[in-house]
Amino acid sequence: MRKKLFAGNWKMNLGPTESRELIAALRADLDRDAATLSRDREVMVAPPFLSIPAAAQALAGSSILLGAQNAHFEEKGAFTGEVSAPMLRYFGVSHVIVGHSERRHIFKEEDELVGKRAAAVAGHRMTPVLCVGETGRERDRGHTTEVVLRQLQFGLAPIGPQDSPRIIVAYEPVWAIGTGRTATPEQAQQVHAAIREALGDRFGKETADAVRILYGGSVTADNIDSLMAKPDIDGALVGGASLRADAFARIVRARIG
Ligand code: PGA
Repeated sequence: MRKKLFAGNWKMNLGPTESRELIAALRADLDRDAATLSRDREVMVAPPFLSIPAAAQALAGSSILLGAQNAHFEEKGAFTGEVSAPMLRYFGVSHVIVGHSERRHIFKEEDELVGKRAAAVAGHRMTPVLCVGETGRERDRGHTTEVVLRQLQFGLAPIGPQDSPRIIVAYEPVWAIGTGRTATPEQAQQVHAAIREALGDRFGKETADAVRILYGGSVTADNIDSLMAKPDIDGALVGGASLRADAFARIVRARIG
């Protein structure tokens, strides 16, 4: 059984004090059911880099996992503005988002760079959450699968078989991010199934069956249950709705199975 993962991507929101407050509120809600919830699901939050130390402290003793939003592929060096995988690991980060569409489109990160980042994260015994997704224009032209599978192929190219079961893929159609327009469960399932098939071609069926594929893009408490009803949707990467404890806790409590 693949445990669902509900991951909050806080983006460039919440400094250390606000991060502590949100984590405290989340814990007040979720910790009392931690034993039940942890049977079939995991929870992760990814604060901005500077809030990670405060978040790590606030999460002490909790089963909520700590994520980051990017990582450089080198351990150190002349890379102004970047943060390396060992720096994140030091604070207990276990998951790192790579190739988010905002990185790809606003900061022009290309497929190969994303792959190097993913490999560095995996190489430091953390889990890369590789984001893939087509723009609205690409979908309208019928290029969704081609774009997504190309991003997947490059993103995973440097990942060896020993690290492959640990990776997580997040399908995030760009047209659905922060727009209030969610992919329908059927649209998402179709792409998730194509991703799983491609994972099978690359790593074999056993690994493909173990890898979790999250959906992201305007996920809310109102649409989470119908998304989770699909066989290849293994959780969600949540932006806006993860900034409010009540909304995110409701998402975490999604109906499963
Ligand atoms: P959203 O963002 O939930 O605000 O659409 C999702 C994401 O970018 O990961």
